[in-house]
Amino acid sequence: MIMKRCLIVTGGGDCPGLNAVIRAVVKRAAVQKEWEIVGSIEAFNGILREPTEIVILDEHMVSGIHYRGGTILKTTNKGGPFAWPVKNNDGTWTTVDRSDEMLRKMQYLGIDAVINIGGDGSQQISKKLFEKGCNIIGVPKTIDNDLTATDSTFGYQTAVQIATEAVDKLVTTAASHNRVLILEVMGRYAGWIALNAAVAGGAEICLLPEFPYDINKVLESVNERFERDQGFVNIVISEGARAVGKDYSILSEQEIGYENRRLGGVANVLMHELKEAGCQHSIRTTVLGHLQRGGIPIAYDRVLATQFGVKAFEMVLAGEFGRMVSYQHPEITSVSLEEALQKPNLVEPDTALMKTARGIGIHFGD
Ligand code: F6P
Repeated sequence: MIMKRCLIVTGGGDCPGLNAVIRAVVKRAAVQKEWEIVGSIEAFNGILREPTEIVILDEHMVSGIHYRGGTILKTTNKGGPFAWPVKNNDGTWTTVDRSDEMLRKMQYLGIDAVINIGGDGSQQISKKLFEKGCNIIGVPKTIDNDLTATDSTFGYQTAVQIATEAVDKLVTTAASHNRVLILEVMGRYAGWIALNAAVAGGAEICLLPEFPYDINKVLESVNERFERDQGFVNIVISEGARAVGKDYSILSEQEIGYENRRLGGVANVLMHELKEAGCQHSIRTTVLGHLQRGGIPIAYDRVLATQFGVKAFEMVLAGEFGRMVSYQHPEITSVSLEEALQKPNLVEPDTALMKTARGIGIHFGD
């Protein structure tokens, strides 16, 4: 007989491995028998909407989803219980806090525990809901690898793999045409995807958000490479990179309820900066964009996602609420939500991989 209900929510950007977490929770709960797992459609919006949009997640429903990209529950990085967008009479938008109403509704729906799978924005919501008495557990998710409280998150290695394959492809064009090929990758304000793809793909120059670049030094490095031996250069630039003294490259379109600044376009900015600085070589740019987030998770991410899902449900059983699942090699453990959100995980000058990258001559524009 079903006695308890656990709600799964996927919030923020989609990420390879989300479905593997959902499946793992459901399969682990099936072993326990007395729990029913339900999912809210489009993060917490499924609970907040009228009529409510929740689905029962049984083993049949999650069968074979571990290798599928995206999330069967859908997701959003807009709105949410603390900032629900509402249109004013004059056509402008504002946000309202609907968290109390949502918690009442969850009580009415008989939800005993919540597993919130998401990045820093989603875990901020977890923390606030926990402070209001919700039995919530966070599962970290980000392709950006920008959370300090866990050694890794699922989705990140898949993104690195996709970015590396893009570098591999661009190297052949750069070499054939004697060009400068610039690849823009995601990562928000953390340069991990760019740094890993540059090392794995053999790029000559890598520009990261953490270290604003000097365009003259980037140009010097480009020219040196052309003069030295091979007449081509591959640059991997993180979307959050910028020249010294310049602002981030922000996309202008605004979406209602979207609170993050949308980074993008820095590859083209760099191309123009290089030309203005006097670069004589032919330059082409590629923005990899959402290709990094879509599709099949690599095996590593499926395994980590499965471990996170099982651990999350075991934390529900143990009543370990207000905490986030965390991978601290070799253990899958947990940290308080407070600790989980303390500071972002950024590339530091003395990060081991930075030393490796510099060791093989990758230039960082500094
Ligand atoms: O946080 C993941 C991420 O893919 C970032 O790397 C990127 O800046 C952002 O999300 C893009 O978000 P959206 O899909 O909302 O444009």
